[in-house]
Amino acid sequence: LAHDIKNPLNSISLMAQRIMRKGDTETADVARKIRDEIARIDQKFKEFLDIAAPLRLRKRNVRIDELLREVVEAFKPECKSKSIKIELDLKPVDAQIDYEKFRRVIENLVKNAIEAMPNGGTLRLRCNTEGDHAFIEVEDTGIGIPKDSIEKIFKPFYTTKPSGTGLGLAQVERTVVAHNGKVEVKSEPGKGTAFRIVLPLKN
Ligand SMILES: Nc1ncnc2c1ncn2[C@@H]1O[C@H](COP(=O)(O)OP(=O)(O)O)[C@@H](O)[C@H]1O
Ligand SMILES: [Mg+2]
Repeated sequence: LAHDIKNPLNSISLMAQRIMRKGDTETADVARKIRDEIARIDQKFKEFLDIAAPLRLRKRNVRIDELLREVVEAFKPECKSKSIKIELDLKPVDAQIDYEKFRRVIENLVKNAIEAMPNGGTLRLRCNTEGDHAFIEVEDTGIGIPKDSIEKIFKPFYTTKPSGTGLGLAQVERTVVAHNGKVEVKSEPGKGTAFRIVLPLKN
């Protein structure tokens, strides 16, 4: 099924890009919009696959602190434009994890943190090891989560955002649990939210 959707999307996008190059300005403009909309569908579909497709982990040795740094780097411009300060406290952490899936975990948490701070704030990322466990924290000073919503946020399709998918935290939990870890959340409405991932280092 994944290929039945991805392949035609990909060819439509390539055709649109051909029209962009060869058409007149007006036609090229429409073609560009088609390409951009296809990219949006592709992105949403990827998110959907993250929680719907069978989960096969491809573990390798990953420096989690470096992964966090890479993700933050990618979000820096957005944070700057939204007056979000970034604070990092990253100790070296070596773990056997699926790099791609875990990167998406961190991206999903950071994205949520940023979306929770429409008027600016502070984004904090921490990681360290203690004994046989790694700890990763993503904290924001945003709108927070009401107590009675906390139990719902990890459910697929639960969203409070106008164009949210409600798939981000479902992916986070699914991936972390597949690594035998757990996700904890602490939140205070009006003050902020902290997500903490606890990962066993020995399996
Ligand atoms: N850092 C956060 N601060 C406040 N609310 C959050 C945060 N992270 C998640 N949430 C809540 O959990 C819901 C589900 O999050 P998620 O699964 O990522 O889906 P989406 O971001 O598409 O809404 C969000 O709509 C929001 O209500
Ligand atoms: Mg999200």
